[in-house]
Amino acid sequence: MRTKLVAANWKMHLDLSSAIELTQALLDQIKDLPNPPNVILSPGFPLLSVVSDKIKPYSNFKLAAQNFHESVSGAFTGEVSADMLRSVGVTHVIIGHSERRQLFSEGEDRLTAKLHRALEAGLIPIFCIGESLSDREENKTFDRLSAQLEPGILNLSKEAFEKVIIAYEPVWAIGTGKTATPAQAQEVHAWIRQQFHTQWGATTAENCTILYGGSVNASNASELFSCADIDGGLVGGASLKANEFYQILKALPA
Ligand code: 13P
Repeated sequence: MRTKLVAANWKMHLDLSSAIELTQALLDQIKDLPNPPNVILSPGFPLLSVVSDKIKPYSNFKLAAQNFHESVSGAFTGEVSADMLRSVGVTHVIIGHSERRQLFSEGEDRLTAKLHRALEAGLIPIFCIGESLSDREENKTFDRLSAQLEPGILNLSKEAFEKVIIAYEPVWAIGTGKTATPAQAQEVHAWIRQQFHTQWGATTAENCTILYGGSVNASNASELFSCADIDGGLVGGASLKANEFYQILKALPA
């Protein structure tokens, strides 16, 4: 059975008091819903521990880190390991976000190393893929996505892959207010699922959670989440406002 969920990527926003306030507002709003949605919060590193403590009593809330280092430990000043994250209650980690790929030059080799390290450490990877505007305009969307899936994801064993969450985030839709139409997003999600079907068979493909990310908001979430192959969202800007994020959570089918 496929898990439907919404993940909030807070990126480099919020300080301690605003993170506590936002988390508390979400917990207060959600407690009245008949079917509590599955929610993943991804605060910046210094906020993980306090958000972890706040969400601990709520089993439908999980905690993700936005990044980590692929080594087990060592002299890597300024970096954070998977085990450190585990020790403060982190269960998931975002890998391959387009901002890491573009702004921090994280290439496929590094992302594959992170994917393996996360799985070894017992963290659930939220592995992001997505094409740029020029890829799309030049009809290279599926070539780009293949190049991002092949080195790491498609080389996993079936058992390892079954732990992974995929996020499709078209780069041209991130933080731009331009959302992929439900038809555009569904077309890509169905294609992604087909790659998993070819690799590991129908059951594994059907059970994989594939999130859509890129300007998801309270107005477009229902339509996106009602598409057959879209299992929820990875939300940036709109996850920073409690009321708007609550509306997005309510749009998630039970
Ligand atoms: P926006 O929702 O702000 O477009 O960001 C999407 C994103 O990058 C989530 O990881």
